Amino acid sequence: MSFETVAWNAGEVVLIDQRRLPGEEIYLRLKTAVEVAEAIRDMVVRGAPAIGVTACMGLALGATQLEVKSRAEFNERFADLGRLFAATRPTARNLFWAVARMQSLVAAHPDKAPGDMAAILVAEGERVKQEDLRACHAMGRHGAALLEGPSRILTHCNAGGLATAGYGTALGIIRAAHAAGNITMVYADETRPFLQGARLTAWELHRDLIPVTLITDSMSGLMMRRGNVDAVVVGSDRIAANGDVANKIGTYLVAVAARDNNIPFYVAAPTTTVDLDTPTGDTIPIEERDPDEITMMGGVRLAPEGIQVANPAFDITPARLVTAIITETGVARPPYTESLAALVAAAS
Ligand code: MRU
Repeated sequence: MSFETVAWNAGEVVLIDQRRLPGEEIYLRLKTAVEVAEAIRDMVVRGAPAIGVTACMGLALGATQLEVKSRAEFNERFADLGRLFAATRPTARNLFWAVARMQSLVAAHPDKAPGDMAAILVAEGERVKQEDLRACHAMGRHGAALLEGPSRILTHCNAGGLATAGYGTALGIIRAAHAAGNITMVYADETRPFLQGARLTAWELHRDLIPVTLITDSMSGLMMRRGNVDAVVVGSDRIAANGDVANKIGTYLVAVAARDNNIPFYVAAPTTTVDLDTPTGDTIPIEERDPDEITMMGGVRLAPEGIQVANPAFDITPARLVTAIITETGVARPPYTESLAALVAAAS
């Protein structure tokens, strides 16, 4: 891949500004934890695994800059940083996993001086990035093996290199299958209202010379009914213990259409996205975003001023519509309560 989603460079967190793609490829060099947290909130970086890696690096950056007199004070201020990041976006499980991972590292080294602890956290940020990359490649291998020969895949939102440390979850499977000569077409839903499919998935695939056809969200049903789609592969922001899947708004409708057309519906996500503490999708928090994302486009008003708007950013696909969940440790099949718990245990 010829771009880098998130990197640590000489005491700065470097992010490709995803709000500017595909028009401009600009890298932002962030110098404080507050800047990194704002970048997550403002969607400079998005996609659950990429948010998790960025949060780890942002926490490490914050730790290097804490001016404290004691280790107790370091611990308190680091907990504040954890709260700062946890408040940025509510749905992606990986964000909370990232905060917990860095906090448990701090707890595991109670005797380290603040400066030494900060250095350990910086190294951990890079380790988490490498783990995510390896997880994406493993998902790619597991998922590509599920496809039965040359396939036409439909995907929703962006679950690619831009949404992870690199390579992608759903797009990782597509990349692995493409390398094996098994991708004849990828249908990319544009993904209203933030257009992650049109702006990001189409950009990534086109750039890697993987055949891609952009469609609007409302066209996916017809594509399936016409027999143009062999499998649906999407990512996830959080997977409940029973296999209910939170993903970008519109995913549920894709899953319903896939079931109606007997098309397998696969979800690809690292075990860091699985939330065994949340029993079902009913209690997964759904982010509600700015109405302007729907009423405006490129500064042009699309709807009457003052109109009431709902803008939930994610929906829940019930486990019964999910054919399989592909993680880095293997493929979970129903009943998910058992199979997901086993794959999470295998990761630790
Ligand atoms: O609002 P976003 O762009 O952060 O939402 C991203 C998605 O819904 C992705 O499908 C999900 O995070 C999986 S990314 C590998």
